[in-house]
Amino acid sequence: MNILILFHSVTANTYFLAQEFKKNFDKLGLNAELKRVKDEDLFDLSKTFPEIAENFDKINSVPVASINDLIQADLILFGSPTYYGNMSAEMKAFMDNSVQFFSQEPLKTKKCAFFTSSGSAQGGGVYCLESMIRFSQHNGMIPISVPNSIQTLSSEISAYGICHTMGKISDDLKTGISEFSKYMLTL
Ligand SMILES: Cc1cc2nc3c(=O)[nH]c(=O)nc-3n(C[C@H](O)[C@H](O)[C@H](O)COP(=O)(O)O)c2cc1C
Repeated sequence: MNILILFHSVTANTYFLAQEFKKNFDKLGLNAELKRVKDEDLFDLSKTFPEIAENFDKINSVPVASINDLIQADLILFGSPTYYGNMSAEMKAFMDNSVQFFSQEPLKTKKCAFFTSSGSAQGGGVYCLESMIRFSQHNGMIPISVPNSIQTLSSEISAYGICHTMGKISDDLKTGISEFSKYMLTL
């Protein structure tokens, strides 16, 4: 199974969630590919803001995804920071760019799941997840919802996906991500 973990991240919170998923798939013996969407401002931002510079090299070392990466994958995890209760412009631009293949339905029946990092628990993270879910539905993909037994492991897990509040990933959330990773593979 080809697993793609596609993310956008500036201050690395979403990147660390993506890494957490990768770690779990690795443990399960599956090679999940980590890719990022293009962000033309990241380098300049890292020169101005120390909190962006801190993890710039790590994020920058992740290969930039192409639409072909989506087409090759069987399971795709999409991760975006919550920006004004939505996905980031960079993630949206990446998704919009896939319209060139839309009529050929190359993403139809692919499974997908979603994660976000937001500044606060009430900051609209679920709207960000929903915005990415809508992309998947327009493309005939199969969004994976999180069953209640996994939601209850952490207050940062919703039915729509992982809704992390920026900062350290708690042990509860790590457990939830581990269980969700295993669950996705049963489908
Ligand atoms: C342009 C912009 C808009 C944001 N909008 C929201 C928001 O609506 N709700 C929220 O909780 N946090 C918001 N934040 C905070 C980010 O979601 C948060 O810092 C997140 O962890 C950043 O992810 P990253 O570290 O992967 O870049 C915003 C940040 C930026 C830069």
